[in-house]
Amino acid sequence: MVDSSAQLPVGVLSLNPAVDITYEIPKLIADQKVHASGSRYDPGGNGINVGRGLKRLGVQACTFCVVAGEIGRFLRHQLATQLDQVGYLEVEGETRINGTILESLTGAQYEVSGVGPAVSEAQREHLLEQFVTHCDEGLGVITGSLQPGLPKDLYAEAVRRLRAAGGRPVVDSHDEMLRYAIDAQPFLIKPNRFELEALVGRPLAGPKDIVREARLLLERGVTWICVSMGADGALLVTPTSVLKGEPPSVPVRSTVGAGDSMVAGMVARLAQGASDEEALREGVACSAATVMQAGTELFDEATVERLRGDVRITRLAL
Ligand SMILES: Nc1ncnc2c1ncn2[C@@H]1O[C@H](COP(=O)(O)OP(=O)(O)OP(=O)(O)O)[C@@H](O)[C@H]1O
Ligand SMILES: [Mg+2]
Repeated sequence: MVDSSAQLPVGVLSLNPAVDITYEIPKLIADQKVHASGSRYDPGGNGINVGRGLKRLGVQACTFCVVAGEIGRFLRHQLATQLDQVGYLEVEGETRINGTILESLTGAQYEVSGVGPAVSEAQREHLLEQFVTHCDEGLGVITGSLQPGLPKDLYAEAVRRLRAAGGRPVVDSHDEMLRYAIDAQPFLIKPNRFELEALVGRPLAGPKDIVREARLLLERGVTWICVSMGADGALLVTPTSVLKGEPPSVPVRSTVGAGDSMVAGMVARLAQGASDEEALREGVACSAATVMQAGTELFDEATVERLRGDVRITRLAL
């Protein structure tokens, strides 16, 4: 059990959470109704996933979450057992519903992401204020999509405010949201390889190329960069080290939530004062344990425990 008194405060920003519906079907056929062999409802959205992951790891965190309407009420009901501490902001409209279809005959996975409710300037100001106050000199996770209409530099603003309060911002985002956030100099970013390629505007051939680009971002004021590379694991680049973390070979059921689990694992250990190596190990173990789960289900602690020692960490001389 984790001694929470020795833990830094952790906050997670979840502006656009969702209820996820997953249908398992044999195969989609155009113009024909297909009956699901199974269906499930899960709380969704990147921030919610990170919050759920942190709770599973025994870390106290508060998730700041926008909810709306009856779907929002359903989401709150689902979250009651999945998050310890939640700061809800109620807005007009309806929380979005995301759909995932798993085809058993082909193994294909289809995902549709819904549109979330509008959040006014005053409302997001209020939520941001609460988030920054909670995080204090701890860690603040900024992740997930922004509703259409929200400024693309909102995450950059969150990063600036967290830093001004002495906290360490962790950003998992993409495109302009990530680009702006980088200008505000977050502590940690976790792009996957494709997000990094999009950011730098060129394909990255291998670790050498990735590390070169990561170092340029470090020069721009990002403290740590973790680049995730699917089954190949992840590279963690810091001012003093380049570490590669490789997961053991695991049976893959669904990769949904892998990135969120990696963020949760790393943040959990950082909040407890762990080293770069320990943080990477935990991120890789948690994410590998998540791909073993069906649908949107996240890792279970027993599997993380089992995988932890099998994660291979190498210090690269690049
Ligand atoms: N097939 C796999 N086997 C083992 N581990 C995996 C596999 N796929 C992903 N992982 C683990 O999950 C981590 C994150 O995966 P990935 O690089 O796909 O992130 P992502 O694209 O951000 O994911 P997401 O789609 O959840 O946002 C990897 O670094 C790795 O540790
Ligand atoms: Mg991701």
